[in-house]
Amino acid sequence: MTGSLALPVLDADLEDRLRQRLDVVEKALAGHVVSEAAFVTEAASHLMEAGGKRFRPLLVLLAAEAGTAPASDAVITSACVVELTHLASLYHDDVMDEADLRRGAASANARWDNHVAILTGDFLFSKSSELTAELGADAVRIQARTFTRLVEGQILETLGPIDGTDPLEHHLRTVAGKTGSLIATSARYGARFSGTPAEVEEALAAYGEKVGVAFQLSDDILDIASDSEESGKTPGTDLREGVPTLTTLLARRSTDPADARLLELLAADLTDPALHAEALGLLRAHPALAEARDYVVGLATEAKTHLQAVPPGPVRDALDTFADLVATRTA
Ligand code: IPE
Ligand code: IPE
Ligand code: MG
Ligand code: MG
Repeated sequence: MTGSLALPVLDADLEDRLRQRLDVVEKALAGHVVSEAAFVTEAASHLMEAGGKRFRPLLVLLAAEAGTAPASDAVITSACVVELTHLASLYHDDVMDEADLRRGAASANARWDNHVAILTGDFLFSKSSELTAELGADAVRIQARTFTRLVEGQILETLGPIDGTDPLEHHLRTVAGKTGSLIATSARYGARFSGTPAEVEEALAAYGEKVGVAFQLSDDILDIASDSEESGKTPGTDLREGVPTLTTLLARRSTDPADARLLELLAADLTDPALHAEALGLLRAHPALAEARDYVVGLATEAKTHLQAVPPGPVRDALDTFADLVATRTA
């Protein structure tokens, strides 16, 4: 599997339970990407089989440990729902970002074409909706709202900030929509379907929202700082496509004359490989990278304040460590 996120567990029994349930989720997911049409099955299985960290299902299962029924069918189903929604969004995202590598494999748009990638994404969104219907009307409402926010985030990113508004604020709103929404829902589902009290569900959803934003921001830092063996993606994709990230937005605020060349490059078309490599090199050495990392650590700290609502013990400790791992991850 590409990428890995160590299980944030200090308690061996808890770790064992989570691994077993992740296995159950994995087997169920393989069944959910099957279609009557063999080609659709092949296209939809392509990225599922290529790997992925299964971060969202893991968060569902971890949050579910806070409830009385952590292994209920609904918990497992909701873990599948969030991964299918996520997977669908990756098919569409790679079209939008013209990315050719995903989970260490060719993206669907690169392996086939944009039409196949878009329709396969639609198929997976539909499968996710079918499965959500098994969880009842409230889950359908939550899922619809989540999807609205995710799509609005992707649209906000495409539109860019309105002139005269703060680009960093726009970026954080974008990230909360495109990524925070589904990760918040992952934590919410885990809480809800394991039977936690309502206030714990709300606290875990708020925790998930912040962890989700931190997750995306740290992913964007890795896009600059790491190579493709670690990420399974082509490094510097955001930069090449001119997609602003926390690091580039912070770098752009610099008034240091030594940054003139970097600022010029950040405003230029970086599809030229030599210019792209130069900008990536300058960014990797720029203090904005450390500043961005500090910001993400701060977000994880804020996320953890919501864990007061969870009773003290190994589950709360694991959720606490999980937020730290997200902020400092290297894959
Ligand atoms: C990629 O998500 C898109 C982001 C929100 C950063 P993941 O990093 O969870 O991707 P996989 O599932 O591990 O491939
Ligand atoms: C992915 O965002 C967000 C969604 C799929 C909704 P990015 O475009 O930043 O993620 P990567 O870098 O392609 O994984
Ligand atoms: Mg992308
Ligand atoms: Mg994108």
